[in-house]
Amino acid sequence: MPSTVLVGAQWGDEGKGKITDLIASDYDYVVRFQGGNNAGHTVVHGSKKLALHLMPSGVMYEHAVPVIGNGVVVDPGVLVKEMAMLEAEGISCKNLQISCDAHVIMPYHKDLDGADEKRLGTNQIGTTKRGIGPCYQDKMGRKGIRIQDLLDESIFRLKVETALSQKNPILEKIYGLHSYSVEEICEEYLPYARILKPYMTETAQLLNNALRGGKKILFEGAQGTLLDIDHGTYPYVTSSSCCAGGAATGSGIGPTAIDRVLGIEKAYVTRVGGGPFPTELKFAEEGGEGQDAIDGETLCQEGYEYGVTTGRKRRCGWFDAVIARYAAEVNGLTDVAMTKLDVLSAFDKIKICVAYECEGKRYDYFPMQQSVLFHAKPIYEELPGWEGQDITGCRSYDELPENTRAYIEYIEELSGVKTSIVSVGPDRDQTILRGW
Ligand code: GDP
Ligand code: IMO
Ligand code: MG
Repeated sequence: MPSTVLVGAQWGDEGKGKITDLIASDYDYVVRFQGGNNAGHTVVHGSKKLALHLMPSGVMYEHAVPVIGNGVVVDPGVLVKEMAMLEAEGISCKNLQISCDAHVIMPYHKDLDGADEKRLGTNQIGTTKRGIGPCYQDKMGRKGIRIQDLLDESIFRLKVETALSQKNPILEKIYGLHSYSVEEICEEYLPYARILKPYMTETAQLLNNALRGGKKILFEGAQGTLLDIDHGTYPYVTSSSCCAGGAATGSGIGPTAIDRVLGIEKAYVTRVGGGPFPTELKFAEEGGEGQDAIDGETLCQEGYEYGVTTGRKRRCGWFDAVIARYAAEVNGLTDVAMTKLDVLSAFDKIKICVAYECEGKRYDYFPMQQSVLFHAKPIYEELPGWEGQDITGCRSYDELPENTRAYIEYIEELSGVKTSIVSVGPDRDQTILRGW
């Protein structure tokens, strides 16, 4: 098994960090291939919870080489801080490899992210304001600044000067924001360049050599299938390819090198930011009412659903099998890891959305038009829960209550994918391996 891609099967925050950290022990390289520090991946290290934004979660193992691939957008200041945080925790970053082709998030990208959200008003996407969208816009517009540009001060200055000739008028004249001088950007970024220089490399070559040498590679996806720029709920998405296909373009290995695609799905669903969410159980403060508002709040509190990156309360809802089927297809999932099953111990009855209904029509498949998704009413089936039974100590599948197993198996039937990992708590050992 040379390489495995791990992807979020919902709208992010499925527990990718925990599962990457868990399985990384079997891999020689752990690679981030898209996104940037909009990601917030939690790994539990001893008694501490660590939030990783750019560093692949495999950094926790000394033997694994963490790689930031060409498809990632890098905020160098954030990376330098994250490395210092990890070193202070006794976790070495010495093996880190950063692609010279990855794009650099510049200060004006962050300003433009915030300003563009303001412009959208009530239609805003609810971005993390980390400059992700504007940086990818420049990449695709062929005017981005890459990690390799940091290696040569004169090239960097020239690129910044060229960029500012466009960005400054936009910042000042369209958004009424302050402009930048080449000097102030160089003053901030060139010291980062000096710190990061030893880690910069040609990562596509590195990974292909590794494959030739029989090494094993784990690709750690950020965000999730429904946030993918092509396959997600556009425009309420992030600006990168979060699906499995992105692992090839975002790292420089060929698709034939991938033979396992593990989808991470929560036992319920959450979403941060705007956009359609058919099974959402609206909180009372968002206008939700009755049992739905209570159930939504219970999921949020029991699952501690607050953003790692922004601290925002995550929108919560029941498991959506339409999405699960869609994620299985667009990623070519070979198996899934189901996380946070322990959170459902708070319920005596649990709902699963098996299809949608909109204007009298039933949708078993992800609808073609976004407007349908906005107005879709979930068709639920109700399953008996395992209320009050603490499953966080279960370490084998057979130890799980019968109703928990029935829940997992019904989802397998609906989505057509087997569950090879079951997570019953945030710790590495709170996990049941089932054919992994
Ligand atoms: P990611 O972005 O996909 O890596 O997920 P996040 O780290 O943003 O959010 C997942 C949260 O759930 C983190 O706080 C994890 O520590 C926690 N978590 C992961 N798996 C489990 C689980 O099985 N049970 C519980 N209760 N928490 C979990
Ligand atoms: P992880 O990797 C959940 C969401 C934002 C917003 C949209 C666009 O931790 O699962 P962006 O800043 O990327 O332009 O925002 O995407 N978003 C995430 N939601 N988990 C994430 O990452 C996310 N990264 C971005 O909330 O709706
Ligand atoms: Mg997260």
